[in-house]
Amino acid sequence: MFWNLPSSLLLIGTAITAAAAAAAIDPSAESLYSRCSDVSFKVSTTSQNVKFAFPPDPNNETQILEFNRRSLTLTGNPQNGTQLISGTFNIDGVYCRPPPTGVRARDDDVLEILVHGITYNKSLWSGLGLGARYDWHAGANARGYHTLAIDRLTHGTNPQHPEPLDVVQGQLHVEIVHEIIMAIRNNTRNNALDRGFSKIVYVGHSFGSQIGQTLGHLHPNDADVSVLTGYSAFPIITTFDNISFESAATFRPRHFHGQPLGNIVTPIEAQRTGAFYAGAFDPAVAHADFLAEDTVTIGEIAALITMISSGGGGYRKPVLVVTGVEDAIFCTPPAAVCASILAATKAIFPLASIYEFIMPESTGHTLSLHYSAPETLKGVHDFLDRVLR
Ligand SMILES: *[C@@H]1O[C@H](CO)[C@@H](O)[C@H](O)[C@H]1NC(C)=O
Ligand SMILES: *[C@@H]1O[C@H](CO)[C@@H](O)[C@H](O)[C@H]1NC(C)=O
Ligand SMILES: *[C@@H]1O[C@H](CO)[C@@H](O)[C@H](O)[C@H]1NC(C)=O
Ligand SMILES: *[C@@H]1O[C@H](CO)[C@@H](O)[C@H](O)[C@H]1NC(C)=O
Ligand SMILES: *[C@@H]1O[C@H](CO)[C@@H](O)[C@H](O)[C@H]1NC(C)=O
Repeated sequence: MFWNLPSSLLLIGTAITAAAAAAAIDPSAESLYSRCSDVSFKVSTTSQNVKFAFPPDPNNETQILEFNRRSLTLTGNPQNGTQLISGTFNIDGVYCRPPPTGVRARDDDVLEILVHGITYNKSLWSGLGLGARYDWHAGANARGYHTLAIDRLTHGTNPQHPEPLDVVQGQLHVEIVHEIIMAIRNNTRNNALDRGFSKIVYVGHSFGSQIGQTLGHLHPNDADVSVLTGYSAFPIITTFDNISFESAATFRPRHFHGQPLGNIVTPIEAQRTGAFYAGAFDPAVAHADFLAEDTVTIGEIAALITMISSGGGGYRKPVLVVTGVEDAIFCTPPAAVCASILAATKAIFPLASIYEFIMPESTGHTLSLHYSAPETLKGVHDFLDRVLR
């Protein structure tokens, strides 16, 4: 764990990320360290989504925000069964390859699929373009791992904005990720990368980790390893009591023009920073994060309870949980208390072949945008090197 790592190891972590510096700024740029390209998947799938008994009027923002407030208690909106949602969706991503030299060959067959949390998009994994320290692609590529960060449906540059309550729920994201993994593993014509991979590492942040948990439950053979960051089995939902939301199209009409009112954002910077950042971080990063925030849908939040309670079921492969000691949503300082929360999270994955956790110190929820990010990247890739051997 980071809080008692020998300092020699910390130095190695720093050096690796410094070496990847040139890759940080433009996630699509070719560089000596990462070679990235924009990709787009066309995915046809079906998911079993939750139906709500008393949905808000989709044109009434007041009702939408009241509905969302009730969802944040996790049980405030009664469900009325499920419904099948089918569709064909365009999912954009950025795919980055390791540098051509200096990488061990055995890693050449491993792809990390990076899935962002709420109010972020795939840019999270390139550190919002704020520097090498925060660039997951560059850190992973420098260790020989390929990376694919996707925009979940309705987020980032994805052109479609489906109905936000019934359609855009975690369950549908899980099935979309499943189809993408199938296409890559089998290298079918729906694979937007120019090659297949036989080893897939699922890497999630926050809601992206909860999607990973459910993926492990519904499709236990999809991920060879699951790395769940900004996550535990015990979300502290009261943290959201003090966070207001607003429809994205109302808050930033130019940027979010045409998006349904059920696509919402956190409009108050101090609240967002208080929930997502803690300990050692650059205030300029938290500010840039606020200015560039993406959306969350009211369906993603409302159906969360179903994903949390479904657990990680029959997933039998290695699991690594990575959560900041000061994560206001998924852990509680001091380190000993956070450690007990992350240790208890193992119960979600009773059959996992390996279960370990890492707790970066002085680190809040959006851990890859904190000063500890290079150590986090090092810890994750040391784990992957070990379990994928
Ligand atoms: C629940 O769903 C059933 C079947 O679709 C419908 O008949 C009923 O009116 C719904 N109840 C509520 C409270 O929405
Ligand atoms: C929106 O919903 C609120 C709360 O139900 C209601 O008071 C208000 O009249 C509605 N506004 C419109 C324009 O229908
Ligand atoms: C995706 O995130 C980046 C960085 O946070 C931001 O600049 C961009 O505007 C976001 N995209 C959308 C469509 O909101
Ligand atoms: C891909 O391969 C898996 C087995 O590895 C198989 O179960 C699945 O049906 C295949 N999917 C496609 C779309 O070919
Ligand atoms: C909400 O904010 C109030 C006032 O700032 C504070 O006393 C309280 O602890 C906060 N609650 C949570 C759950 O963060």
